[in-house]
Amino acid sequence: MKVNYIINGDACKALRDFPAGLVQAVIADPPYYNVLKEDWDTQWSEAAEYLYWSLIWVSECMRILREDGLLFCFGQLGKREHIFIHLMSTLCMRFQYHDLIIWDRAVGYNERRDSFTPAYEMILVLRKGEKPKFNKEAIREPYDNQTIASYLRDKRYKDKDARLRHLMEGKYSTNIIRVPSLKGSSSEKVGHPSQKPLELISKLVLCSTDPGDLVLDPFLGSGTTAVAAQQLGRDWIGIECNKNYVQIAEQRLANTNGLFEQKQGLTSPSKVLDSKVKLTQ
Ligand SMILES: C[S@@+](CC[C@H](N)C(=O)[O-])C[C@H]1O[C@@H](n2cnc3c(N)ncnc32)[C@H](O)[C@@H]1O
Repeated sequence: MKVNYIINGDACKALRDFPAGLVQAVIADPPYYNVLKEDWDTQWSEAAEYLYWSLIWVSECMRILREDGLLFCFGQLGKREHIFIHLMSTLCMRFQYHDLIIWDRAVGYNERRDSFTPAYEMILVLRKGEKPKFNKEAIREPYDNQTIASYLRDKRYKDKDARLRHLMEGKYSTNIIRVPSLKGSSSEKVGHPSQKPLELISKLVLCSTDPGDLVLDPFLGSGTTAVAAQQLGRDWIGIECNKNYVQIAEQRLANTNGLFEQKQGLTSPSKVLDSKVKLTQ
């Protein structure tokens, strides 16, 4: 099957042509159902119809997934969060629940006057078989300088270089992932109303695939999953029904380079302890 390209069409139809067991990970950010005033988000007359439609595309994606693959499905908070709760319940009865990730958007949205301000989205994770591929080491998060400095001051650790090397590896990421949502003024924004941050999608790609694996996004939008996959040396296939978004995604991909490195600045215990970090005792 051809990879690293966008299918401009309907996901439910296009997915039928995919062979079983093809992709290592599915990253799906589907329409939410009447949250946005966009044609693609208001195409169902009632919630039951949306749930039925969701079951069709998820079933196809689970068929296409490899035995050790994971499927990530975003759900929207706000006025309609209960629809996603119904969807999660339905999906968990049919498929194997693996995890529920909370994407902490850092900044609240939606200006609700009658409740706390919504500030997270859910990402349901389903697995196909009992032993999914999961690269826990690939999604470590750096400690902040203050924490590193305070650990280095701990007298129980004699070998400070070894201790620093260990600390610089970072800590394991929890299933609450804090990545700021994209503001209108963000340089990453390319004109899609629900564009996800590249940093967030990259974490999902990193934890669920190895270089060379194939990632599928059935609702590609502005192409975030494809850009993340391309940057990280994974193959990808995207499906998107809106021609304008396909063009936006293609333009983004044309400006995307290959593998990138994440670098951290601190290299020695003395540098950490000499830095202007205020230490907690
Ligand atoms: C929530 S957005 C995805 C945004 C994307 N994650 C990004 O970062 O840009 C959902 C996308 O699904 C597309 N879409 C809606 N119904 C579709 C269908 N039946 N088949 C394929 N794409 C569809 C919409 O046009 C929209 O771009």
